[in-house]
Amino acid sequence: MTARLLRGRTLSFKSRPQARDDHASYIYEEDGALLIENGRITAAGSYANVNTKAPIGTEVIDHRPYLLMAGFIDPHIHFPQMQVTASYAANLLEWLNTYTFVEEQRFADASHSARFAMLFFDELLRHGTTTAAAYCSVHKGSADAFFAEAQRRNLLMVGGKVMMDRNAPEALTDTAQSGYDDTRAVIEAWHGKGRNHVAITPRFAITSTPEQLEAAGTLARENPELLIQTHLSENNAEIAYTLELYPEAKDYTDIYARYGLLTRKMLLGHAIHLADREMEAIAEAGSVAVHCPTSNLFLGSGLFDLKRIREHGVRMAIATDIGGGSSYSLLRTLDEAYKIQQLRGNRLAPIESYWQATRGNAEALGLVERIGTLEPGSDADIIVLDACATPAMKIRMETVQTLEEELFLMQTMGDDRSVRAVYVAGEAV
Ligand code: GUN
Ligand code: ZN
Repeated sequence: MTARLLRGRTLSFKSRPQARDDHASYIYEEDGALLIENGRITAAGSYANVNTKAPIGTEVIDHRPYLLMAGFIDPHIHFPQMQVTASYAANLLEWLNTYTFVEEQRFADASHSARFAMLFFDELLRHGTTTAAAYCSVHKGSADAFFAEAQRRNLLMVGGKVMMDRNAPEALTDTAQSGYDDTRAVIEAWHGKGRNHVAITPRFAITSTPEQLEAAGTLARENPELLIQTHLSENNAEIAYTLELYPEAKDYTDIYARYGLLTRKMLLGHAIHLADREMEAIAEAGSVAVHCPTSNLFLGSGLFDLKRIREHGVRMAIATDIGGGSSYSLLRTLDEAYKIQQLRGNRLAPIESYWQATRGNAEALGLVERIGTLEPGSDADIIVLDACATPAMKIRMETVQTLEEELFLMQTMGDDRSVRAVYVAGEAV
């Protein structure tokens, strides 16, 4: 395989920015370059320096004046909900019952799943998302379609067959036993195949019996390296119903803890309405609160309490939650996260937001050795961003002088049109 050198402005994070002027947290090269060999980044830095390391015959691709970053990571998204986005509902439970649980039944059909796996990855990549943690449907075949297509494209994807055995249409339920068996089969068939990662995926406490959460806990114990994903405290009516179903639990978080699911591998979608005790338990376990701003606004679920999450030292991530979310774009997602914090009287620095969408989300998934940075040794999942993607952005850019201003403009006004090129394991897609 020939080596490839990408030239452009490069931005990669070393650590979480502590303030808007924390320049030590990132490496920015005005005339930078990345050397890619065998799907990995083998050198990064100034063009002058990296160029001396390029073997004879290296293909040079000049992306100046655009910005090269690690591909965006979306740690909470629903593969079978492409045709649920933009469904008109008063709240989460109405939205689930009226649209989502109807649509997901269609993924019983293998050809439907295969078609949507292609459409799903096309859409992620168009938006500069090179890794996602996705919920498939309850059907094992939906996970098979998801992972087969991810492997075909050499994508690093996390996915899971949803486990749900009650409070949903019969065609969309498994049982405690079949959910366990099918998840095990998906793990055996796909985990570690290509760049695939399987996640244990009990949908949420409302749609799982205690027996099923027990089975999910058994899977987690048997496969301690696997991520686990579920939903937590998204909506007030959801919380009230959940506590009726699990009257013995101290609170919603305690339900997952009781079944051995509150671990460092756990991704907790939404995590909006949490008591101090829950924040403390989540922080102690090292589980991740996954903020889904466009979804929380769209469904009217609530305003994520970033300040308290930070004060309690809870690990976090940021995600689209398509189809509750309204955009596949991590740029749009950062913008809505910023606005939610504006409403709460908090500041969210652009530099921290871009850290979160790349390295921060990679750390949340435990995958920072592979993705989320431009460091040598990383997989070459790279995006090329353009802050002048629309006429309005171009006009605004005339007055922009700093990297921070450029990043802020791009998150405020940008979307898929700002993504000029995407590389997956070093190959342009
Ligand atoms: N809670 C349980 N299932 C879902 C889902 O599909 N989307 C959202 N936003 N919340 C959920
Ligand atoms: Zn979700």
